[in-house]
Amino acid sequence: MMYSICYVSDELKELKKEDLILLYEQTVQNNNKEQITGVLIHKDGSFFQVLEGDKNVITTLFKKIKKDRRHKNVITLFTRESIRVFENYQTGFSIVHDYNGLESLRVFLADNRAISTTSACVESIIKTFLKA
Ligand SMILES: Cc1cc2nc3c(=O)[nH]c(=O)nc-3n(C[C@H](O)[C@H](O)[C@H](O)COP(=O)(O)O)c2cc1C
Repeated sequence: MMYSICYVSDELKELKKEDLILLYEQTVQNNNKEQITGVLIHKDGSFFQVLEGDKNVITTLFKKIKKDRRHKNVITLFTRESIRVFENYQTGFSIVHDYNGLESLRVFLADNRAISTTSACVESIIKTFLKA
């Protein structure tokens, strides 16, 4: 079953640039291997992530992510059955760390509103990140 998990969290303490790069590399490499698509956004000390893939695979990963000491206050926004929305966005799993990345993701989601309500939902959350 295709499943989608979306959450927000806060950095435990400000992560150094090299720590973030390490986290991004680890995440992209593992997610490509596990055929997990989605996006990880880092902005102003907060994370926002969408994970898409096999239900067992991403549920297991999410349990691990929740225990990760690099962040805290993990709040699940939704967990749902869903088709893959992000497989046609960049490399399938992408990292967004600046305004331009957020804006191009918003445009992609707006264009894909019709394919899944996940798109519309994530788009509206991202809009709040863009305003912040
Ligand atoms: C905000 C945040 C998002 C993360 N996202 C992923 C992810 O999408 N995929 C992943 O494999 N690890 C992710 N991680 C890292 C995992 O928590 C964990 O460190 C990693 O899977 C390595 O686990 P292992 O040492 O058991 O192999 C994330 C960590 C944080 C803090």
